[in-house]
Amino acid sequence: MSFPTLWGGFEKGDSREYGRAVLTSTDQNDLLMKDIPTPSQVWMSHGDTITLIPDNFHIIASTEDVQCATYRIENEQTWGVQFHPEVFHTEIGTKLLDNFLNICKIKKDWTPANFIESTVAELKEQIGNDKVILALSGGVDSSVCAVLLNKAIGKNLTCIFVDHGLLRKNEFENVLKDYEHLGLNVLGIDAKEHFYSNLKGVSDPEKKRKIIGKGFIDIFDQEAHKLKDIKWLGQGTIYPDIIESLSITGTVIKSHHNVGGLPEKMNLKLVEPLRLLFKDEVRKIGRELGMKEHLIKRHPFPGPGLGVRILGDITPEKVRILQDADDIFIKALKEWNLYDEVWQAGVILLPVQSVGGMGDERTYENAVALRAVNSTDAMTADWAKLPYDFLAKVSNEIINKVKGVNRVVYDISSKPPATIEWE
Ligand code: XMP
Repeated sequence: MSFPTLWGGFEKGDSREYGRAVLTSTDQNDLLMKDIPTPSQVWMSHGDTITLIPDNFHIIASTEDVQCATYRIENEQTWGVQFHPEVFHTEIGTKLLDNFLNICKIKKDWTPANFIESTVAELKEQIGNDKVILALSGGVDSSVCAVLLNKAIGKNLTCIFVDHGLLRKNEFENVLKDYEHLGLNVLGIDAKEHFYSNLKGVSDPEKKRKIIGKGFIDIFDQEAHKLKDIKWLGQGTIYPDIIESLSITGTVIKSHHNVGGLPEKMNLKLVEPLRLLFKDEVRKIGRELGMKEHLIKRHPFPGPGLGVRILGDITPEKVRILQDADDIFIKALKEWNLYDEVWQAGVILLPVQSVGGMGDERTYENAVALRAVNSTDAMTADWAKLPYDFLAKVSNEIINKVKGVNRVVYDISSKPPATIEWE
């Protein structure tokens, strides 16, 4: 919430709120708060609290801990909202935005069909007869981006899918097969060695991200030159990637590889048709484009892949351990019909070894963490309440089958203050 500090007061107080908060009162006479019930869950992320407001400001919503959670300036069409109305976990968010549209007298015409029509027209205009290469990751964002571009420019699009050695088990082969039905022109590039050698001995999370990001750019650049006359690089960047890579307070939460680190030497222009969309919107576009449901429902997977799920330095052996553990977790989620119930799931290999006993032998091996969250936009997320029986089965199977792991823990942190990935 932006607040004119000259007229009022705020402090870094004890009433910080991260994550779940509850609206306890709303002013039903206010147009923005109309039909917003209490109590109602909202999602907060703030350390500062408004403690004093000018006389012409009116408090129109409060939470248990924060009196001024929303204000309106008298005789002005100006409101300030401290919680996040745009996120899934704010139950009344859509209603509040609805009220806002009514106040502004704006029509709700942001539909998948409209988006596709206008984006395809813009892409045709922007790209003309130029050639584009697109970084495919197997995920829904880059796949939808490819299908949109294909609709706009057809054969002038070449898709490149790089195996950076940090994909899920058998993912490279599975994804290439998945793309066959979309009629896309896809080149699969095995660049495992390139990435492993550049990442050798590096354990700082941001350095790893930068190296992986640069590795992608180098490979694309190299392939683009082979293809001749390529002018554009297409990317499935979505809005949360951009927000989290921005430095508003001077602190970057994470540099998402598809935004940061584009080297000067790259002579390609960037085309990112999904850059203003959230993931749930991308899925709606994919459905409208007629893509297969299992491609659309595939869990998000970060560009740097298992590289940000192996804490500390990366070795091919650690990748093998993590791939095996992750494969057990994901397959079990599918078998138990839980895969579609969670937004994203994966395993994290911790840089921690602990003592165990297997048979008569003492072991001193790795611990892994299972992570599964519910979300709609990745901006906020809650840990998934998976059944105990399921967790017990997965833990047992990982410890029994994956050589190098003797302990499994479950991550019960929500975002914020944690993030979905551990690095
Ligand atoms: P965090 O960890 O920031 O993740 O809560 C939010 C969502 O973004 C994914 N993620 C990435 N995706 N490049 C990507 O394409 C990245 O560098 C990256 N880092 C995180 C993450 O898996 C989750 O879905």
